[in-house]
Amino acid sequence: MAVVSGGASGLGLATAAALVETGVRVILADRNEEAGQEAAAKLGDHATFVATDVVDETSVSELMRQASGIGAIRMVVSCAGIGIAERTIDRSGNPHDFSSFDRVIRVNLMGTFNMLRFGAQYLSRNDPLEGQRGVIINTASIAAYDGQIGQLAYAASKGGIVGLTLPAARDLSSVGIRVVTIAPGIMDTPLLGMLPEEVRAALGASIPFPKRLGLPSDFAKLAIAILDNDYLNGEVIRLDGALRMPPR
Ligand SMILES: NC(=O)c1ccc[n+]([C@@H]2O[C@H](COP(=O)([O-])OP(=O)(O)OC[C@H]3O[C@@H](n4cnc5c(N)ncnc54)[C@H](O)[C@@H]3O)[C@@H](O)[C@H]2O)c1
Repeated sequence: MAVVSGGASGLGLATAAALVETGVRVILADRNEEAGQEAAAKLGDHATFVATDVVDETSVSELMRQASGIGAIRMVVSCAGIGIAERTIDRSGNPHDFSSFDRVIRVNLMGTFNMLRFGAQYLSRNDPLEGQRGVIINTASIAAYDGQIGQLAYAASKGGIVGLTLPAARDLSSVGIRVVTIAPGIMDTPLLGMLPEEVRAALGASIPFPKRLGLPSDFAKLAIAILDNDYLNGEVIRLDGALRMPPR
């Protein structure tokens, strides 16, 4: 069984759908109850929604407890995330808001940390299958490396996820749990769907190859490949069509 945060939308939902397709039972964890219930209903019997705020440790601990009551958790995928656009100082010279920076770090980094630690707690109790107790997949962003103007908070949060990947894999090596992070480029999710069509087309044309936006299914395929490949561990994989983002 897999627990997917941010499972009500975009990359998380696509991953959940791909897992269900391969016969894996999935728990969709998201703070958006309406979208989460709807998504679980669409995915059918193999999907269950559990309302979760990844920032809240009680909520994540309860999520894992509930999920483990349904079946052994073998996979945790963190896709819950938010973004903002705010510069270090604004045009009038006023400093970046503290609370917005704090919020992005909390949701993206601390939320991923909560999924990782409470997930690992349950995965470590599994009987090993060919020596493996499970896999944890985090979602960073290429902004961790090529953060653009106004991406200070977002890039910092994703850089934190990149940084914790190897030590988490090392920590969990003794119990046979792998940790891998995906760093997507520009993916065509509801987040991007709000942009006008011409802006989305221009973004797609800016990708070296393939000349298109990444699809949620591209992300889901990589998540399944990570699940299948026992030797992938402690690594951050860029999924970006060779895009290196410019300053703006
Ligand atoms: N779309 C892209 O271009 C892109 C690129 C790089 C990285 N990412 C990352 O991929 C992940 C998924 O992004 P997406 O494009 O699918 O976005 P999305 O907005 O479609 O989905 C994100 C989901 O996370 C949920 N969420 C937000 N805060 C939460 C919280 N505190 N607790 C529980 N759930 C919460 C939202 O309700 C939503 O359902 C994010 O971490 C994002 O930063 C996206």
